[in-house]
This record gives sequence, C-alpha cells and structure tokens, in this order.
Amino acid sequence: MSSYNAVKIMVDVQNLNVAFGNKKIIHDVSFSVKKGEIIGMFGISGAGKTTIIRVLTCQIEKKNWTGNVKVSDLTPAKKKNHSKILANIGYVPQLETLNLYFDFKPMVNVDVFASNYGMNKKEAKEIARSLFTILDIPEDTWDKSLKKMSGGEKKRVSMALGLIHRPEILFLDEPTTGVDASKRYDILSYLKKLNRQLNTTMFIITHDLEAALICDKVAILREGKLLEFEVPQKLILSLPSEGLVVRFIIEGLNNDKINIIKKFVSVQKIIRVGNEMLEVLMNNFEESLPKLIQYMMEKGIKINSMSRDVATFRRYFQLRIQEEEEKEKILM
Ligand SMILES: Nc1ncnc2c1ncn2[C@@H]1O[C@H](COP(=O)(O)OP(=O)(O)O)[C@@H](O)[C@H]1O
Ligand SMILES: [Mg+2]
Repeated sequence: MSSYNAVKIMVDVQNLNVAFGNKKIIHDVSFSVKKGEIIGMFGISGAGKTTIIRVLTCQIEKKNWTGNVKVSDLTPAKKKNHSKILANIGYVPQLETLNLYFDFKPMVNVDVFASNYGMNKKEAKEIARSLFTILDIPEDTWDKSLKKMSGGEKKRVSMALGLIHRPEILFLDEPTTGVDASKRYDILSYLKKLNRQLNTTMFIITHDLEAALICDKVAILREGKLLEFEVPQKLILSLPSEGLVVRFIIEGLNNDKINIIKKFVSVQKIIRVGNEMLEVLMNNFEESLPKLIQYMMEKGIKINSMSRDVATFRRYFQLRIQEEEEKEKILM
C-alpha cells in the first residue's frame, strides 16, 4: 500500500446509455466507485439494475451502448480488454443456472471454474472449502449432486464460485433472493466481513431494502434513470427535519382524512404504511407536532396511537419513488 491514501477509482461510468433496438433501457447514467466501497443498487423490477451490471461485466455488445465506462481502468467497450477485466471481477448472476452446472457436484463445479480461470485446482478447492464453510453450505452436500440442494444452498454455491479467484470487484445480482430470511442477514454480514478483510469492492443488486445497512452508497434506479447515488444516511438526513417521522394509527383512516392532514402547513410528506397507519414528515418537527395533533383533533380525526421515529432507508426509497411518480402525474 502507498503511504498516502489516494483512493483508487475502481469503476467509472459516465453518460451510459443502453438501447436494444429502438428500446432505450438506460438513460445517461453516471457514477464512480472507489476501492473498497459497497454499492447497493435498488429499484423495482425492470428499472435497469441488471443491465448496468451486464455492461460492467462485459456481457452487452458495444453496439448496444454508449458512454465512457471503466472497470479497473479498462473499458469493456474494447473486446481485447474483456479477459483482463473478467480475471479481475467476480460475478454472481441473478439466476444461478447461469454460472452453475446442476448435473455436477459443488466440488466438480469448483474444478470447472478453476480450469476456466487457469487456477491451481488444489488451491481452488481449498478456497472453496473455506467459502462453503463460511457460507454455511452443509459439508455432506459438497460431493452430492447440486440438483438435490435447496434454492438457498444453490445460491450460496453460486456466490462461492464468484469469489474463488479472489476478485477485486464483486458483482452480486440479487444474492439474497430465494434465501430464508434467517440466512439473508448471514449472507450480508459475510459480504461485509469479506469487504473489510480483503477490501473487495462490491455491487449488490437487491430488493432487500435492509441491505442498505451494509452499503457505503446506494444507487436508486427508476425506469433506466439514476435518481440518486449517495451515502444512505445522507439521503435520510436530506428529508424534512432530517428524517424525523411521526407515526399515527388513525381510526377509520381513508383518503379524505389523508388529504386533510396533507393540507396542514408544515406537512411535507405522507406515506400510508398500513391499513390504519400513517407516517408524516414535517418541517420544524418539534414545534409542528403538537400543532398538527391539535389540528387533527379539530378536524375530527381520531388518533388511536402515536410514536416517533427516524426514517429508515426503506422509507426514504418509498418516498423518493412516490415523489418521482407525483412529478410524472403533474407532467401528464
Ligand atoms: N436483451 C434485452 N433486450 C431487450 N430488452 C431488454 C434486454 N435486457 C433487458 N431488457 C429490458 O430492459 C429493462 C430493464 O431490465 P433489467 O436491467 O433486467 O432490470 P432490473 O434488473 O432492474 O429488474 C426491462 O424492461 C427489460 O425487459
Ligand atoms: Mg435484475
């Protein structure tokens, strides 16, 4: 390591546009990622997350995209760079069918992977054994057919394979989908551990909004556009009153009542989080809260219970997407 901390840019994307035929999929996306950062990519299905990762991992032909893209200083725009880029990165696809041979045992998959990457087989197996153990893949399944494994186990074998060559950058497309809730946290904490120990740069595409907890930055995508690329805590702090939230349970909550609350002057954002549950964000939270309660009482809105909290990333994400949808409605 150098004596000063000039942090290396591992991935740089400037003005990326992707189109398949007449269909524009990605619109002018730019961001850059430093060594050791974990980037969470969030957005509903079809937002373009997988497409961006596929550009970065040399899986989309150059004729389908434009922009300046660099992955560890090499551009995937040039075919001659592909093998160098691929040697430097690990890729765990959304569907594990794409990197696993189901007819083979996990350890045979390791053999195949090792020969594809020109790795010493013995060394690859040793690394695989430790990865399988860390990822909690039962030892009695290592030499049994992959077909007999559960979905979650296959996913974890697929993850282990993406890591055997100790890549500098790891791309994970929905690593926790199809994995039990109890194992999800283990996978995320394992990734965080790996990141700390080896300084591996990571991209994690996930629907699991709690995964933001292990991310240095989050990317929020909607309809092929990058809405945000920021430290999750900063996004939360950018909300009214730095993300302070009051949660009400309101008797007979309906749209009329929501609209009345919306009209209160300090109210900035409202989100219905349950049948009778509402969260409200306001300017000048401390002064506004008692006034809002007074106002609701005057309007005959019955509050059954009330609590205060700070917005989570999940809430930020919902509000951000809601905001974008409202903007669109106004334009239409
Ligand atoms: N090879 C392709 N040809 C045509 N359309 C595609 C292709 N790949 C992806 N798309 C479309 O691009 C959009 C974004 O897809 P994707 O990147 O897979 O989204 P996400 O991973 O966020 O769910 C979707 O509308 C999808 O149908
Ligand atoms: Mg996807």
